[in-house]
Amino acid sequence: MLAPYSPLPHLTIKGKKIRVPIIQGGMGVGVSLHPLASAVAREGGIGIVSSACLDRLVTKRTGVKSTTYEATYNEVSLSKAAGGYAGINIMVALVRDYASSVRGAIDAGADVIISGAGLPLSLPAIHPAGDTALIPIVSSARALELICKKWEKLGYRPDATVLEGPLAGGHLGFKIDSIDLESNTLERLLPPVKDTAIKYGDFPVIVAGGIYTHADIVRFLKMGADGVQMGTRFLATEESSASTAYKKAVLGAGKEDIIVAHDPGSPCGLPFRIIKQSPMYVSALGRARTPKCDKGYVLLKDTEGNFSRCIAKESNEHAFCICNGLLSSAGYNPEKEEPLYTVGTNAYRVDRIVPVKALMDELTETATLCPS
Ligand SMILES: Cc1cc2nc3c(=O)[nH]c(=O)nc-3n(C[C@H](O)[C@H](O)[C@H](O)COP(=O)(O)O)c2cc1C
Ligand code: SF4
Repeated sequence: MLAPYSPLPHLTIKGKKIRVPIIQGGMGVGVSLHPLASAVAREGGIGIVSSACLDRLVTKRTGVKSTTYEATYNEVSLSKAAGGYAGINIMVALVRDYASSVRGAIDAGADVIISGAGLPLSLPAIHPAGDTALIPIVSSARALELICKKWEKLGYRPDATVLEGPLAGGHLGFKIDSIDLESNTLERLLPPVKDTAIKYGDFPVIVAGGIYTHADIVRFLKMGADGVQMGTRFLATEESSASTAYKKAVLGAGKEDIIVAHDPGSPCGLPFRIIKQSPMYVSALGRARTPKCDKGYVLLKDTEGNFSRCIAKESNEHAFCICNGLLSSAGYNPEKEEPLYTVGTNAYRVDRIVPVKALMDELTETATLCPS
C-alpha cells in the first residue's frame, strides 16, 4: 500500500524497468523535442518527442534538408543519447507521414511508440517492432478492446496503453458534449480499461489528463494505474521547445481562459483544448485568415488516393489551420503565421517555468514544493 508521499514504484514495459513511472507526454508541434525528452530520460522517466512536422523542424535546426524518416531517426537518437528511456508520440491523424515516422522511430531504437488522435489499428503491421514497445492511447475500454482484437489478428498485443481522460491538452478523444460527463472522468474510465488490459495479457495502464502533483500520481497508482503520462507540467519547463511567448501565455492563463475549441476547431475533427486568447484562434473566430495550405500534415486522401483533403484548406468557417498555428507556437515562422496555444485544463495552475530536474524531484519525492 502506497502512503500519500511514498517513493513511486518503478514501471516495467516490454521487459524494460523504468525507475520513475512518469511518461512525459508527446507535445506537438515542436514542444517536446530531444532537449525535453532526453532531460526526462536522464531523470529516470520516459521522454517523448512528438513526430508532428519533424521534417521541417529538424531541417530548420540542422540546416540540412531532412525527410520525415531521417528527422524522426535523428530526434529519437538524440533523445536517447544521454541515457535513459525515450520514444516518440505519433498521431494517427498525421496520415501522410505515419508509416515513415514509425519506421524511423523503430530503426533509431525508440523504447516506445505512443500513438493516438485516432485508433492506431494497423500500427504493428507497419514495421517489425523489435525492442520498441507499441502503446495505443485510448479514451475508453471499448476503444482498447477494438485495438486488442485487431492487433491480435496481426499477432501483436499492446505493450501498455495510455488512458487519456478529458482534462488533457491537445486533441481529446471525446465528443464535445461528453467531455464534462461524470461517466468520463479518468477515475471512472480507469477500472474498465484496467479490466480490458488484464483480459488481453495484463499489460500496464498509464493514465493521463489532469495529473499535476505527486499526490495525484500516488492517488492513481493506488487506484490500479501502473504509471502516469503528464503534458502540461512539462510544457512549462526550461527544456520544452515552446516559444517564449507560448510559455508566457501559459503563465498568464486563468482558469476561464482555457477552453475546448470545436467550431472553429481542429481540422482533424476532434475537440482541441487551447488558451482562448491564442492569436490564431482569435483570428479564426473573426474568419480573418485567408485559407492557405502550404504544410499539409493533416491532409486526408481524396477519391483518387492523393493527399488533398483538409477542411481548413477550402474555408475558414469551421476550422483553423492547425499546422501553421502550432508550428508558429514552436517558433517556426512566427512572423508569417499566428500561434495557437494548446494546454491541459490545469495550465492555469502553472506559476513558473522550471528545469526538468526540479520538476521530476518534486513529482517523485515530496509534495511540499507543489503549487496548490
Ligand atoms: C502542448 C501540448 C501538446 C500536446 N500534443 C500532443 C500530441 O501531439 N499528441 C498526443 O497524442 N498528445 C498530445 N498532447 C497530450 C499530452 O501528451 C498528454 O497526454 C496530456 O496533455 C496529459 O494531460 P496534462 O496536460 O493534464 O498532463 C499534448 C498536450 C499538450 C499540453
Ligand atoms: S490547410 Fe492548414 S491545417 Fe490543413 S493540411 Fe493544410 S496546412 Fe495543414
